[in-house]
Amino acid sequence: MELYASTPGVLFLTTAFLSYFLICFTNRLKLPESIPWAGLKSGVFKRQRAHLQEVFRGREYLAEGYNKFSKQGKAFAAPNFNFVPDIIVPPAYASAREGQLYFLSKYTYSHERLHRDTLEDNLARTQQIMRLPTLHTEVMDELVAALKDAWGSNNTEWTAVNPFETMFYVVSRSANRAFVSRELCRDDGFLEAVKAYVNSFATQGILIRFFIPELLKPLFGRLLAIPVHRRYRQLLDGYLVPLAQKLILQDDRGEETLAKWLQVAAQSHSDPEERTAEALAGQLASAEFAPLHTSTYSITDTLLDLLSAPQAESHLETLREEAQSLQGDPSQWTRAQVLHLELADSVIRESLRVTRTSGKAMLRRVVAKKGVLLPDGMRLPYGVYVGLSAESHIDGDYYDDPKEFRPWRFVPGAQKPFAAPRKMATTSPEFLSFGHGRHSCPGRFFVAQFLTALLACIARDYDIQPLLERPVGHSVSDLSTPPTDARILIRRRRD
Ligand code: HEM
Repeated sequence: MELYASTPGVLFLTTAFLSYFLICFTNRLKLPESIPWAGLKSGVFKRQRAHLQEVFRGREYLAEGYNKFSKQGKAFAAPNFNFVPDIIVPPAYASAREGQLYFLSKYTYSHERLHRDTLEDNLARTQQIMRLPTLHTEVMDELVAALKDAWGSNNTEWTAVNPFETMFYVVSRSANRAFVSRELCRDDGFLEAVKAYVNSFATQGILIRFFIPELLKPLFGRLLAIPVHRRYRQLLDGYLVPLAQKLILQDDRGEETLAKWLQVAAQSHSDPEERTAEALAGQLASAEFAPLHTSTYSITDTLLDLLSAPQAESHLETLREEAQSLQGDPSQWTRAQVLHLELADSVIRESLRVTRTSGKAMLRRVVAKKGVLLPDGMRLPYGVYVGLSAESHIDGDYYDDPKEFRPWRFVPGAQKPFAAPRKMATTSPEFLSFGHGRHSCPGRFFVAQFLTALLACIARDYDIQPLLERPVGHSVSDLSTPPTDARILIRRRRD
């Protein structure tokens, strides 16, 4: 009887499953025959098998392709669970300028305006983001208060905290001090609405990107993105539209924030649609999804890498001494002082280098209908994604003991073979955490300044117990994130 009742469900699932693979198998993107593939094993359906296994072996394919092909200056095809391979080019091609930035899935953008990536829009956004480091005083004030609220003041007993959750709170509150306002960044309802929106944007985007074949995306991409649009509306109606209306009315007065700068910039827009509260609120919502997860992953991974390193206690002490060398209370630290925190800057860069959240970098879609010609004469078809492998981060030609986490690797005088020390925000084909070239992350100077200060405050004000093992995070395909359920033991230091 039960079997009978579930038959339509089983039939539906089987049909859906078979249609999925039929669509995937028949997907024929015309790649040049001469392009070599990574991850192929002998036997039948080599490519299809490699595509299917990519969800677990994405990093392995990229490492194989990098060592076999990228290092010989050749492009290769990297299998993909959605059956459309990405083309990974050698580091020498990293200066290529064409293409459109690839960001999860266009279906998760709640308004067409947010997905536009014209040169003009891109420049306008980049210019405002590049001004964020000037809001240093406000961000420092928020960061110190948020850290104390998240980690508490108990200086007698050890307290267990979840590094991912607490760092998300500190990052979100501090970044939003610069993005929206002092009042809103302290409003728990607003922070929850932002979190719900950016989380659904990321998860639904990954689902659509990896699990829906191209042909089915117009239908299933739209369906899966419905929760994102609902959360977008809640964030806009509850918080961002009222904020935007206030900003439009008060014109040039009020706090210096990204919201105000965007509002002032929008006033000279020729299209009246772009000058509305709805448009400004949409821009603010879209400013939230690039920084929050990335910055949280980065500081959480840094803490976990540091605490599970063999000399964790001595590393923390070294960071503490550097922080204590700065005069005054951290909320008063100037920008110049924070830029002198070379050890903290090096640890975060080193963690970004070894614990890469993405195995691919600089992914760009070929948008020219006739395809693009690679420097080696190979023509790539319209629609394919082209990028670099971040395997260069652990290439022995660039770094000594490349797989080892060495916190002071980038401190002046400590690194080899680089001739010059590298600050966290410096990009290169051997350090792709912020991308490289024209579309490299415009928020990297802001985030470097802010995370360096945060790490210094943590080392200065808290004792933390080292970890016996590095807690393992989550991974799918070439992406990995820190664990969301790890715990560390902390105790406030006596002032
Ligand atoms: C540790 C933190 C961060 C990491 C690891 C990171 C990483 C990246 C990467 C890899 C890209 C793509 C670059 C490319 O494809 O060449 C990117 C783009 C971008 N990031 Fe970040 N980012 C971080 C923080 C931020 C922050 C704090 C902001 C804003 C305040 C921001 C704003 C952006 C924007 C707007 C883009 C798109 C650039 C464009 O369209 O040209 N990011 N980021």
